Amino acid sequence: MGINLGNQSPGDMPMKLRLPGPEVSGISQIEELIAKRRSVRNYKDKKLSESVISRLLWAAQGVSSETGLRTSPSAGALYPLEVHLVIGESGELEPGVYRYVPEDHTLVQEISGDIREKLSKAALSQPMIKNAPASIVISAVYARITSRYGNRGIRYTHMEAGHAAQNVYLLGMELGIGTCAVGAFKDEEVRSVLKLPANQEPLYILPLGYI
Ligand SMILES: Cc1cc2nc3c(=O)[nH]c(=O)nc-3n(C[C@H](O)[C@H](O)[C@H](O)COP(=O)(O)O)c2cc1C
Repeated sequence: MGINLGNQSPGDMPMKLRLPGPEVSGISQIEELIAKRRSVRNYKDKKLSESVISRLLWAAQGVSSETGLRTSPSAGALYPLEVHLVIGESGELEPGVYRYVPEDHTLVQEISGDIREKLSKAALSQPMIKNAPASIVISAVYARITSRYGNRGIRYTHMEAGHAAQNVYLLGMELGIGTCAVGAFKDEEVRSVLKLPANQEPLYILPLGYI
């Protein structure tokens, strides 16, 4: 189907072009997922398996090339983002906070114990964070990128967090797992709950749970 040119508006009104309708079903899986994507704040009482967690972490920031390039784009491939997993009782992983290591697709435990309630409090008591079986937290080490791009690197880092979060949203939709990008939280409280080093800024909390 070609572009259907609408009637030209009279006078100096801008011309409006009607685009062919988006094909959101039966054509491409990615368009269906984009169309379905919503922020989800209520989850079933069902735990996430290690395999599902692995896939969502990989979508956020995993390695997808032999040269170490990742699933999300990064200005200058400098990768200023850190991805953490916060998990409650899961049956497979001990409750706690883990750092995702993209290079070898592993988790390193940073905190032992269920901190979801504290994290929720730090995020203005948004309930989905304590109710979700797990959350991904994206933080940034700006120095990795400002060393090359100066202050502009800060802008790039925030763009990168958006790319990573969108990957989680879309793969989540495919797996029946909802998320909600949470940016409203007290930075210092989140930093303290997650014991983030001083050079790391929390950017996003992505609670995860079955829809
Ligand atoms: C940067 C950013 C911060 C957000 N912070 C929150 C938040 O703290 N709490 C929340 O419930 N939703 C938050 N959202 C989700 C928006 O409310 C949501 O995207 C918007 O209502 C549109 O709905 P949709 O994502 O379902 O299309 C945030 C979204 C973005 C992009």
